[in-house]
Amino acid sequence: ITTLRDFDDHELVLLARDADSGLTAVIAVHSTVAGPACGGTRMWAYATHEEAVIDALRLSRGMTYKNIMAGLPLGGGKSVIIGNARTDKSDALLRAFGRKVEALSGRYIAAEDVGTSPADMALVGQETRHVAGLTGGAGDPSPFTAFGVYHGIKATARELTGTADLKGLKIAVQGLGHVGQYLCQHLAAEGAQLIVADLDSDKVAEQIRLHGATAVDAGAIHAADCDIYAPCALGATVNARSIPEIRAKAIAGAANNQLSVPEMAAELARRGILYAPDYVINAGGIISVSAEVTGTFDHAAIMARSAAIGDTVSSIFARAKATGATTADVADMLAQEKLAALKAAGPAQ
Ligand code: NAI
Repeated sequence: ITTLRDFDDHELVLLARDADSGLTAVIAVHSTVAGPACGGTRMWAYATHEEAVIDALRLSRGMTYKNIMAGLPLGGGKSVIIGNARTDKSDALLRAFGRKVEALSGRYIAAEDVGTSPADMALVGQETRHVAGLTGGAGDPSPFTAFGVYHGIKATARELTGTADLKGLKIAVQGLGHVGQYLCQHLAAEGAQLIVADLDSDKVAEQIRLHGATAVDAGAIHAADCDIYAPCALGATVNARSIPEIRAKAIAGAANNQLSVPEMAAELARRGILYAPDYVINAGGIISVSAEVTGTFDHAAIMARSAAIGDTVSSIFARAKATGATTADVADMLAQEKLAALKAAGPAQ
């Protein structure tokens, strides 16, 4: 795999196979410098093994950056199971995967992700204790994610207007699912004017009823006349086609992988659209998962840590302004610096 050269900073990559259950999985441990590598288990019908390996490598590095920027005692890892989550999943396959995770003796902690559920993680957990996100564990991370995004939006507002007060600001929320609903509550409570869209018309109707939100077509929400666009549905909504239509002055939302490709960050900067890096602003969920992993679940502490995401976002904006780098590049650079400092300080206890 020639592109592996781009990924020479990983500690370990395991190709895990189990003939009896048909399991083929890749477990990538990018870094355990800050603590055990924690990151979701994705099940996806990758076309080739190469595609699966590259996804695991890319996502595991992303988890290191996300965890370290949130100040968590966790490293970065990710696993992918190759297969169709609807047709290829079985109890035997998930348990076989659990045994592979167990073989790593805690260097990697699995959690749910695209294509896996808390129930699946319970099956994985029959073979290993190195699994998070179980039903009855920390519970739904979405309220924490939404609270962190809300504070990230306040930091974004301060950068735009000089004040973090959201009163009267027009905020377009794309996706009213677990995170989007809680986010709307916070924004409306502070007097923001909500513009919303979802494919589910019931969820839209609820926001109109609860908060007097203005509804727009799901295909047009990115182009809404607003101050801040908050993507809280799918990834890659910020792309070469959508950017010219974006009227918001800033983008700050929960969705993972908002930029279709990294180069979109420069395109946003060129157009003067401020971007709050997704993995920084949406870290509230992993902050709550981390508390589950470390056995220190304390609601108030997790809320405080999620609120502190606002300060991190502000510091990224400040450095981007000072250096001329994109906010996305600044986030990666800060993560790399923190990692280097931890490495220099010696192994995690
Ligand atoms: P969810 O599945 O509960 O909600 C997504 C919502 O978006 C659904 O209501 C869906 O109908 C809607 N939607 C889908 N396509 C749409 C479209 N084209 N236009 C408008 N609406 C559309 O997901 P959840 O948990 O709220 O997560 C939202 C995003 O935030 C995802 O990208 C997720 O990866 C990310 N995220 C979530 C975290 C969490 O704690 N739940 C943590 C970190 C990131």
